[in-house]
Amino acid sequence: MTRREIKVSFVVAVADNGVIGHGADIPWHIEGELSLFKALSYHHSVLMGRKTWESIGRPLPGREVIVLTRNADYHAPGCRVCTSLEAAIDMGCAEGRRLIVAGGGEIFAAALAYADTLHISHIHMQAPGEVMMPKIPKAFHPVFSQYYPADTPYTYTIYSREGAPELSI
Ligand SMILES: NC(=O)c1ccc[n+]([C@@H]2O[C@H](COP(=O)([O-])OP(=O)(O)OC[C@H]3O[C@@H](n4cnc5c(N)ncnc54)[C@H](OP(=O)(O)O)[C@@H]3O)[C@@H](O)[C@H]2O)c1
Repeated sequence: MTRREIKVSFVVAVADNGVIGHGADIPWHIEGELSLFKALSYHHSVLMGRKTWESIGRPLPGREVIVLTRNADYHAPGCRVCTSLEAAIDMGCAEGRRLIVAGGGEIFAAALAYADTLHISHIHMQAPGEVMMPKIPKAFHPVFSQYYPADTPYTYTIYSREGAPELSI
């Protein structure tokens, strides 16, 4: 698959201190914020690491879930399983489709080089946790930003990679 055929977006919520997870969990619950993930990932292939899959524990309606693991015998009911990132990208981006990367930390770090669009909810809190989002490379520029004054306020920002051929979901 050529670079141009690879269309990869991240959808992630990141606390102001860079935390995205605490153990198996996301250390906040914000009414409405998760609906962004649902809307952006609907009818797409969604890639997640084995640990994130186990913390969700069920397929996502209306989406093809691809679980990444190094264990070739791993079974994730209702999902596809890949043992290499490149195979997962080939699968998720087949026939011109866009792959949505849903985490967690290891998968975001490994897939960042392939991403052209990042949908980031910046959660305005110092969250407890040890799973961190990798630093956003300078090549990404914010192209849209919207502040949401929830109990825990957050800002949803879309970042686009410099030179990316299109801005898309
Ligand atoms: N805030 C958010 O938006 C958000 C979103 C998603 C998840 N999270 C949080 O993130 C945390 C989980 O993240 P995590 O970093 O611990 O785990 P993860 O990224 O979900 O999964 C890690 C696992 O993925 C597999 N893997 C990683 N790189 C691979 C590669 N190159 N090839 C094949 N398999 C590979 C390995 O599975 P095996 O060990 O089976 O080989 C590895 O143990 C949780 O706290 C979760 O709640 C937060």
